[in-house]
Amino acid sequence: MNVRVFFSADEVDAAAIQGRTVVVIDVLRATSTLLEALANGAREVYATESTEEAIRLAGSLGREDTLLCGERRGLKIEGFDLGNSPAEFEPSRIRDKRLVMSTTNGTRALVASAAAARVLIGSFLNLRAVASALKGESLVGIVCAGKEGRFALEDAVCAGHLLRRLRRARKTWDANDAAEAALILAAQYQPGLDFLVSTAAGRALIEAGLGDDLPLCARNDVYSVVPEMTDRVVRLAPPGPVHGGHDRDSTES
Ligand code: MLT
Repeated sequence: MNVRVFFSADEVDAAAIQGRTVVVIDVLRATSTLLEALANGAREVYATESTEEAIRLAGSLGREDTLLCGERRGLKIEGFDLGNSPAEFEPSRIRDKRLVMSTTNGTRALVASAAAARVLIGSFLNLRAVASALKGESLVGIVCAGKEGRFALEDAVCAGHLLRRLRRARKTWDANDAAEAALILAAQYQPGLDFLVSTAAGRALIEAGLGDDLPLCARNDVYSVVPEMTDRVVRLAPPGPVHGGHDRDSTES
């Protein structure tokens, strides 16, 4: 397996991810929330970069079954239906709805990854399922959303735990320095609430009054689904092996 990790959306360009199956990770909170939304019955999620783009798109899709979601500085965008807290995406609110989402880093990372061969969505909530979905892939990218172009510890640690699962029983392993660094971080930090509370993003959410989101984003392997983005629309993809390379794999943790 040939793996490239990118520590922020700003590091990603089309050439770097071309031909790769990419996993986008934004633990706090966009990809955790996106998983919650789709697992709870949302029909699909449109990833947008700006508030204006989100409003325009929701208008053209039809507002009757489309919800506008997202945050700036952690808080719900004015005039939007939902923010970016997993708890807001309850089945009664979002079942069969189309969501148009704009977040500071997470949806930007999704848009930046659009040139990849495939784009999967990961977080601690579905890490085992993501590892399983990557079985057989030979060219992999992991895009950490990071924070405004910079490194974010929780995304890097999540990437590292995914890499640990991928590396086991691999006959071939070719990783960039960022992947090796993520593996070292994963050996140091165990996923869980204590870890998220210790991160800068976790502390910022607590200060913003959004600390209840941390336990929801700290859950490990509660979902066996792997959402996939095609043409900027994220939908559930069936779990399990997918097409691709020839490496052997073991994804048991
Ligand atoms: C983002 O996309 O930047 C985040 O998910 C920020 C957040 O809402 O916590």
